[in-house]
Amino acid sequence: MCGIVGAIAARDVVPVLVEGLKRLEYRGYDSAGVAVLAGDEIRRVRRVGRVAEMEGAAAEENLHGLLGIGHTRWATHGGVTEPNAHPHVSFDKIAVVHNGIIENHEEQRQRLKGLGYAFESQTDTEVIAHLVHHYYQAGGSLFDAVKQATRELTGAYAIGVIALDRPDELVCARMGCPLLVGLGDGENFIASDVSAILSATRRVIFLEEGDIGLLTRDGVKLIDKDDQPAARPVHLSDVSLASLELGPYSHFMQKEIHEQPKALSDTIEAVQDAGFNAALFGEAAAEILPQLEGVKILACGTSYYAGLTAKYWIESIAGIACDVEIASEYRYRAAFANPKHLVVTISQSGETLDTMEALKYARELGHAYALSICNVRESAIPRASDLVFYTRAGAEIGVASTKAFTTQLVGLFALAVTLGKVRGKVSAADEAQYLDDLRHLPGSVQHALNLEPQIKAWSERFAVKDNALFLGRGLHYPIALEGALKLKEISYIHAEAYPAGELKHGPLALVDEDMPVVVIAPNDALLEKVKSNMQEVRARGGELFVFADADSHFHESDGVHVIRTPRHVGVLSPIVHTIPVQMLAYHVALSRGTDVDKPRNLAKSVTVE
Ligand code: F6R
Repeated sequence: MCGIVGAIAARDVVPVLVEGLKRLEYRGYDSAGVAVLAGDEIRRVRRVGRVAEMEGAAAEENLHGLLGIGHTRWATHGGVTEPNAHPHVSFDKIAVVHNGIIENHEEQRQRLKGLGYAFESQTDTEVIAHLVHHYYQAGGSLFDAVKQATRELTGAYAIGVIALDRPDELVCARMGCPLLVGLGDGENFIASDVSAILSATRRVIFLEEGDIGLLTRDGVKLIDKDDQPAARPVHLSDVSLASLELGPYSHFMQKEIHEQPKALSDTIEAVQDAGFNAALFGEAAAEILPQLEGVKILACGTSYYAGLTAKYWIESIAGIACDVEIASEYRYRAAFANPKHLVVTISQSGETLDTMEALKYARELGHAYALSICNVRESAIPRASDLVFYTRAGAEIGVASTKAFTTQLVGLFALAVTLGKVRGKVSAADEAQYLDDLRHLPGSVQHALNLEPQIKAWSERFAVKDNALFLGRGLHYPIALEGALKLKEISYIHAEAYPAGELKHGPLALVDEDMPVVVIAPNDALLEKVKSNMQEVRARGGELFVFADADSHFHESDGVHVIRTPRHVGVLSPIVHTIPVQMLAYHVALSRGTDVDKPRNLAKSVTVE
């Protein structure tokens, strides 16, 4: 986590850094800081809290400069304090911002202490500042000092470095964390992601692992991990500035919930263009997919729940074994690997460390092929995969994932049907039906969004509760899990989800009149079972809040509240039923006055273990 930005220009870079940090705040929002070269000193402003606080302080202190770096932090090493906020400096001569974790920081700290360096913070980053200083003061260029220093670091980093006596140089390096260079006109930039510099330029170079860069106002020099000059392609970013603005919405989460019909249409368009054909997943897919004997899905959080949903589709539509595992668990167990099981990683950001490491581990264990379902182009996980399906959700800024989840489901559904076709399990008629189902999906999702006033009315009741239970069965059980995660994540109400049939095996003991129980109960094969499970809840005084389509024939009664969801849309029903649970969490959080887009203790991009 953490976001970094840097700029070298012929104009004041402080506004560029501040705007960049605001866009990167999704990566962490514990503290923020900038350092600029101002005349004969490096001036630094840091504040605990949001970028806006630091911005105010920078204005008060009249901070300006033509070269600078900035950082927004999600605390790992050391508490949320100003001394731990970046940039970190060494003898007021070197300033560094860092995203990532230096694993050998303790060893380096002891060594640097022995060399006379004093530490002001508890961070791992301060060792980078001192190490660069150590090599720089021995003579040579800043670039070489960064090169020597980084070659001694183990762990993950994206860094930006400036030096007091180098007003014309901004040095950066990348290993394991995202970093790009933005190319301007007489000015250049670095950033964790393109959103940070979009107002200045769209021309970007994505650094590769081990790259080190030297930026001046007029040029960029890069070397690769083997110290060889590196020529990296220049991309023209198609991220729109409007997609990064709130527009008429109060929160990004609200905006992103409402963007789902469009995000889904855009993602479905890719499927319609290619059909359910291997080409949808990349050139090598036509050769890889027919060889498969199974699928192994690895992911975290909401993306893991997308994987759980996919298991139902892949096994029932493609008739092939599929297992789904939490990436952070998988990577530490002696797992059995069948080389012919396709590893599918699901990650909105494409840089979740646990998922990335799980992918590497799966490769080590012998899995021959990997497919990434991802929302961020050129991010680390798809780049480490043989095949990729990019969801077209657009930038997701709210920390709680919404449109990324539903579009991941489209990608996974397309995978299930494509595998089914390859394996001769999906007829031409089935295929036409699935395409038709997809075509109708954005409309059903729009219909679900229209339920907002009713859901808002429910939210007041939830806002005063300490706990909630979510129930679903079959394909809708992962959606119950997702509903519970959304609620706890942004409203801080403790929520759990169970397959409804599991209630009587333990969790029923929790049910009393204070326990709201949300049930996802569309008219599917398990409906009658769900109805029996609901009786069990009602008999213990639990209050039921049921999302049921018209065909389910539920009626309001004492302690049973019902919202009618859109007509059951077959196998895609989990996507439609995600919308109400997202809106419920959003409105409950609003009632409780929590920070919906930036819930406490979390960050959007989880690049630490
Ligand atoms: C919850 C949420 C997280 C992410 C998880 C994985 O709303 O967003 O649980 O799903 O951190 O992130 P990605 O998908 O970026 O790998």
